[in-house]
Amino acid sequence: MVIIVCPKCVRKHKVNLDMIKKHIDSGKNVSATCRSCKYKFPVLMDQLLDNLPDEKETHRFKSRKICVTLSKGGVGKTTTCVNLGAGLALAGYKVLLVDTDTQGQSSYILGKKPRAGLTELLTKELTIDECVVQARKNLWLLSGGKSLAGVKRIIDRKSFGAEWTLAEALKPVDCQYDFILLDTSPGWDQLIVNVLFYATEVLVPVALEVMPLHGLSEFMKSLGSIQKYRKEISLKYIVPTFLDTRIKGPQMLYSELKKLYPESLCSPIRYSESLSEAPSFGKSIFEFAPGSIASADYRELVRRVTMDDTALV
Ligand SMILES: Nc1ncnc2c1ncn2[C@@H]1O[C@H](COP(=O)(O)OP(=O)(O)OP(=O)(O)O)[C@@H](O)[C@H]1O
Ligand SMILES: [Mg+2]
Repeated sequence: MVIIVCPKCVRKHKVNLDMIKKHIDSGKNVSATCRSCKYKFPVLMDQLLDNLPDEKETHRFKSRKICVTLSKGGVGKTTTCVNLGAGLALAGYKVLLVDTDTQGQSSYILGKKPRAGLTELLTKELTIDECVVQARKNLWLLSGGKSLAGVKRIIDRKSFGAEWTLAEALKPVDCQYDFILLDTSPGWDQLIVNVLFYATEVLVPVALEVMPLHGLSEFMKSLGSIQKYRKEISLKYIVPTFLDTRIKGPQMLYSELKKLYPESLCSPIRYSESLSEAPSFGKSIFEFAPGSIASADYRELVRRVTMDDTALV
């Protein structure tokens, strides 16, 4: 892989070196179009080859840190976090899933029973390498679970810097992954505040059922109060979930969301029984029902997040 930086929006793009080599060998001038801002610019081959990063350097860029959160329960946070992570991993990105929920469902969905996880990391009993387990190719997991309840009490008792506890603990892996995805529990507590003091991008799943807009506007207020202290965090993606295309109500809610949040609104995840069945088999949707509508919807989300229209096609 080599990194090409768009001169206009400075977004960094990973490009397969073999693809570039073909063009070099043909001796033609090569240009690239930025996937993010669509700017077309020439690629200067000599410079690119002089600056070829080695394997280690490819990861000197910081991971994208995306948290999946909403105070309202049962909206598809965990399902979205795990399946987005599994999809990104299948698309070739290195992904760390961090489960900050006492329900500890991420490991269940992925069919793993890790002996250690986020609790042991936050209590400093073990090192981060001892707490992270590999769940699939390109996919690693820092599991949650009941024991996190005790950790919340420890964080609460800290005299200062309590909100940075998670960020400090995850610092050693800042540049090791392409994506660090964080799942949160419903409600609002010290651990969620910690997640919001660590992540830079927020993904909010909104169930297209009763009163989704109320939960969202409440959350926006809470996010606003965090943003006063952390300018780097922003709401990037609103993902409508449980879309039932047979009835009108959810479609109308979707149109309303589109008017309110045109930039961040993503394609919806439709209601699909495969999504509720897959966890009991310890499988992601791509493994359990690769041909399902849910699999297609999460593939689309992977493309949106990576800004790569060809990912997982
Ligand atoms: N699009 C969908 N279609 C059908 N079932 C779904 C869909 N998305 C999620 N589910 C199911 O709905 C339930 C709730 O989803 P999930 O656990 O992801 O929500 P959550 O927001 O993480 O909940 P909590 O707030 O309790 O953590 C689960 O049983 C899940 O399998
Ligand atoms: Mg959950």
